[in-house]
Amino acid sequence: MGGPRKLPEHEALGLVERYGLRVPRHTYVEARGLEGLVERVRGEGLRPPLALKVSDPGVLHKSDVGGVELGVDLGELGERAQVLLERVAQRLGRTPEGLLVQEMAPGGGVEFIVGGLRDGVFGPTVLVGAGGVLVELYGDVSLRVAPFTREEARVMVSEIKASRLLYGYRGMPQRDVEALLDAVMGVQRLLMEEPHVTEVDVNPVIVYEKGALAVDARVILGKGPEKG
Ligand SMILES: Nc1ncnc2c1ncn2[C@@H]1O[C@H](COP(=O)(O)OP(=O)(O)OP(=O)(O)O)[C@@H](O)[C@H]1O
Ligand SMILES: [Mg+2]
Repeated sequence: MGGPRKLPEHEALGLVERYGLRVPRHTYVEARGLEGLVERVRGEGLRPPLALKVSDPGVLHKSDVGGVELGVDLGELGERAQVLLERVAQRLGRTPEGLLVQEMAPGGGVEFIVGGLRDGVFGPTVLVGAGGVLVELYGDVSLRVAPFTREEARVMVSEIKASRLLYGYRGMPQRDVEALLDAVMGVQRLLMEEPHVTEVDVNPVIVYEKGALAVDARVILGKGPEKG
């Protein structure tokens, strides 16, 4: 009782969407309910290509357990969903709970992470950095204790090396810095207004020339073990 709990991926995406982050269209299916998957996906108006992701309370990093399939067409949906779930089941030692089916985000964006946690001493603290599956490898992040202004968020973004990718590095197009700032301010507001959320990680937020899309969100509720 009272331990930390991870929100299912579709609920985490729904929560960050309520704080103004744009997310691709998605649906959740139970692992036991895969029959009729194509009809379901069609019925909900999801347009291929699709991303498939394992959704299970025991899986924190989906790629680490082979739980992400990208660029899936309707014709191969059933089979690739099955293969993904079997692969994850092998690693997990049991069938995972379900699957998030999501529209693929367009190419041409740059991946950032926008996250936050409720620090035992400082309270709500927000992070922005170079994102994607290699985020730990880069360690290219900037942190602020809430509350802070949008202008402070702008300084924060400028402090990370990857921000050069937003400002037209080596002839690359300029990206929508304001859309990334919207995500930073949204995550800050989420932490301040949702006291039961102890940790949130939106990774990646894909930033385009116009707009940004949050394709993955991890939200932890409840008090975690004391870190020491
Ligand atoms: N809908 C999508 N459209 C395009 N690319 C996607 C989509 N979903 C995921 N990706 C790509 O796949 C990568 C891994 O996906 P995702 O972040 O959902 O899984 P993860 O392994 O849980 O990530 P984390 O490293 O945050 O634990 C993303 O960084 C992104 O490059
Ligand atoms: Mg991720």
